[in-house]
Amino acid sequence: MAVDVEQSGGVATVTLNRPQALNAFNTVQLQRLLGTVRALREERDVRCVILTGAGDKAFAAGADIKEMAEKSEAQALEFGRLGHAVTAAVEGLPQPTIAAVNGYAFGGGCELALACDIRLASDRAQFSQPEVGLGIPPGWGGTQRLPRLVGAGRAAELIFSGRRVAADEAMRIGLVNAVYPADALLAEATAMAQRIAANSPRAVAAAKRALSLAFAGNPAAGLATEAILFAESFGTEDQREGMRAFLEKRPAAFTGV
Ligand code: CAA
Repeated sequence: MAVDVEQSGGVATVTLNRPQALNAFNTVQLQRLLGTVRALREERDVRCVILTGAGDKAFAAGADIKEMAEKSEAQALEFGRLGHAVTAAVEGLPQPTIAAVNGYAFGGGCELALACDIRLASDRAQFSQPEVGLGIPPGWGGTQRLPRLVGAGRAAELIFSGRRVAADEAMRIGLVNAVYPADALLAEATAMAQRIAANSPRAVAAAKRALSLAFAGNPAAGLATEAILFAESFGTEDQREGMRAFLEKRPAAFTGV
């Protein structure tokens, strides 16, 4: 059981590696992922993060049902908070995140994908919030993040029924950005991450911060923040380099300063 990280060309690929349990999250695995994400936050060389699952069956099959089965309310509160800490840490990364969903994304696995900025799916991927069939509601953000992507009515139907959504339907309802053949998924995710990593990391982080306010319920504050972030970018070397490179008809070399 591990969370593996590979870094290359500004892209960090984080692999949930517990294939014998379809990458389900027990406490130890959640703590590992939290430590990994917090460390990536500080890595200046990492400009985009991909999350994926080991093996060819699962992104992550959710929270570990064997561990949860005997939990008390107090223990469930602690476990739920840890799951929320992980999804919040992923969502709050300054670097963009891409979930490369290579198989089952169920329960907490789907919720982790929902906390990413972009979701790419293999044609074998399946999504589900099956919690109500286990006697619990979703616990790591599904009730809040799923409706933002697919709309309130669709999210209600998916969460109340627990039914599985295949990749083509996920694409149709806006749950994923694109679907690729299983053997091309990681290469496509890496290509997208490299395109992002070639841009100014300062500007991308500023755009991500402004985007995060789009659903905060205060459009005027979101627009005001966008205006400030836009102005602040003119105090960065990346802005000088980006515009100079355009005028000199050469590719920009951004440093994130
Ligand atoms: N927790 C613990 N172990 C799990 C698991 C999970 N969520 N999902 C799969 N596993 C384990 C299985 O127990 C099995 O282990 P053993 O070989 O030791 O029995 C192994 O992974 C392989 O699984 P299956 O034999 O079941 O594989 P399958 O291909 O027949 O079925 C599946 C795949 C449809 C994903 C099925 O495993 C499944 O339904 N898993 C549970 C999915 C689920 O309900 N997830 C939600 C959990 S609740 C949650 O996440 C709450 C929240 O909001 C945070």
